[in-house]
Amino acid sequence: MIPDNVPEENVFYGSGDLKKESHVPSFDKYKELYLKSIDNPDEFWGAVAKDFFWKSKPTGPFLSYNFDVTKGEIFIKCMEGASTNICYNLLDRNVHERKLGDRVAFYWEGNEPGDESSVTYRELLQRVCRFANVLRSQGVKKGDRVSIYMPMVIELVVAMLACVRIGAVHSIVFAGFSAESLCERIMDSQCLLLITADGFYRGDKLINLKHLADEALQKCRDKGFPIKRCIVLKHLSKEPEESVDSHSPPAKRSCPDLQVPWNPEVDLCWHALISEASDECEPEWCNSEDPLFILYTSGSTGKPKGVVHTVSGYMLYTATTFKLVFDHQPDDVYWCTADIGWITGHSYITYGPLANGATSVLFEGLPTYPDVSRMWEIVDKYHVTKFYTAPTAIRLLMKSGSEPVQKFKRESLKVLGTVGEPINPEAWHWYYNVVGEKRCPIVDTFWQTETGGHVLTPLPAATPMKPGSATFPFFGVVPAILNESGEELEGPSEGYLVFKQPWPGVMRTVYGNHQRFESIYFKKFPGYYVTGDGCRRDKDGYYWITGRMDDMLNVSGHLLSTAEVESALVEHRAVAEAAVVGRPHPIKGESLYCFVTLKDGVGYSQTLEAELKKQVREKIGAIATPDYIQNAPGLPKTRSGKIMRRVLRKIACNEKDLGDTSTLADSSVVDELFQNRCCASV
Ligand code: PRX
Repeated sequence: MIPDNVPEENVFYGSGDLKKESHVPSFDKYKELYLKSIDNPDEFWGAVAKDFFWKSKPTGPFLSYNFDVTKGEIFIKCMEGASTNICYNLLDRNVHERKLGDRVAFYWEGNEPGDESSVTYRELLQRVCRFANVLRSQGVKKGDRVSIYMPMVIELVVAMLACVRIGAVHSIVFAGFSAESLCERIMDSQCLLLITADGFYRGDKLINLKHLADEALQKCRDKGFPIKRCIVLKHLSKEPEESVDSHSPPAKRSCPDLQVPWNPEVDLCWHALISEASDECEPEWCNSEDPLFILYTSGSTGKPKGVVHTVSGYMLYTATTFKLVFDHQPDDVYWCTADIGWITGHSYITYGPLANGATSVLFEGLPTYPDVSRMWEIVDKYHVTKFYTAPTAIRLLMKSGSEPVQKFKRESLKVLGTVGEPINPEAWHWYYNVVGEKRCPIVDTFWQTETGGHVLTPLPAATPMKPGSATFPFFGVVPAILNESGEELEGPSEGYLVFKQPWPGVMRTVYGNHQRFESIYFKKFPGYYVTGDGCRRDKDGYYWITGRMDDMLNVSGHLLSTAEVESALVEHRAVAEAAVVGRPHPIKGESLYCFVTLKDGVGYSQTLEAELKKQVREKIGAIATPDYIQNAPGLPKTRSGKIMRRVLRKIACNEKDLGDTSTLADSSVVDELFQNRCCASV
């Protein structure tokens, strides 16, 4: 599977300066380690585990599993019998054993330039302990679920690690999601408590988060699920004198006029609670396979699924991928621009970097605020060495040309990373040539919420890069490409991307629904974990992700289910039926093109269109706002009544070659839809 010789043409290497210090300095070394990781995973991961603190050692095999539904229940277990605490490994171990207490864990850079603070490992440990004691005093125990709905502030990391310290399971909901989405997630995982903030700015837009949180809690109450406690961080409305430590915000950020609704029966003030809490907090020792967190991701049936990750395997995997994929070195300043509300932020802002004692930038704002140079200004300000972002951000910045980039030096940069969707070669070359000045290797990391960490990725000093390819598997990962009948294809081929065996960080179940876990990921091809992505392997053995094979869309690097958007649309009183497809978009990757059939007697109007967009935004969140809505008096259906999405995709893209339409019940519907397509680009 791994080529004997690296190809000589169309490959890029970066400048090669990294090799001197790199953990994996050559392709040969990568191959050697890869084979070891596959031949003897217990030994490979056992050696990694030695760097961590274990309260008790494993009692059985390092990794055990069943990936074959025909042989019984699917399970994956890593280091069974061992006990540990991730918060202890991320903070106490770094402060006490590794003597990194004075090292900066995060440089926090606010939305507004000049609004900044930082926290060392020692301070972070103290703040986490205090907040963990607060949670305990509110009755939160091991195994309880806690929902977190917060902006990108240091307190978000404090909240998540405080849960981890006491063995509670965090369920973070991205602060761009709607009240309805928050309510759905709180109820699905039966959370005991919500942690939120008053509000935040995204660029120049004020988001009143508390208002949305209240709406969500009211919805929960209406559905018979009252949440007793909501802890509220005053991020914007905090007066400087309320500050509990030296990291008070400058007056610029305070927004004392913000209206923060307050329900004294439920709401508790973060600052008041921690000012009385102790700095000492004994960690809860957890078993390897205890749940660590739940993170919801779109499901193709429309209902989001709660992906469950567990303690030991996730810790080892995120720590190792972070160390090797970003080739982490002690003097690095690392910056991942993702939001912690997504898996990239969980694994590569919080867990992976802190496990390695890394110094990171935590950025609250947007790449374009106050202007399109912001990212590069931050890179120079903190001397960022390793930088990780998404193709959608690269394309957005590329639009403004190289001048805003070249205004800043960027000499500190050593490795550039990308994640979330296939990166188009044009964006890859711009990232490589302009941002990295041909010096920095690009790690195109393919992975999913479900995989916990990178699964296909280059290693920066070892892997020759091909623009647009996620290259080769990470250690312990065994990919295969299957055809429709489930046969493994050898050599150059294209088909379904699957994995043949687990790695420590793979998800364990869908929260509360193990059957759904089995049927989504293991039923189609027994014996394999099915990613849902299509993939091509070229003659040199490089893997190229070709896109989703199911009804999921990738908008700005975030997966959205067409079914979820459709159900939000049909909940509107005017809509009888809806079908949503993706249409390529120059920046977002894909945009949402929605066909709606209205109920008899309802006329289509601009007002209705605006209402429908609002409806989806309120049901799901701003990322799901439809780009196009087309009035569709009829939808193309098969004779058995199934909507032909393939045909709708062609209409959305104005591609007249429809392929085989012999099963289409009424072809006049298609002509009419072509005539009335939405043409404007978004
Ligand atoms: O389709 C693949 C795409 O994003 C999906 C996973 O989305 P999510 O669970 O939201 O996690 C995103 C961040 C890890 C995948 O199934 N994807 C992610 N990274 C890449 C990618 N497609 C191509 N190349 C990538 N590097």
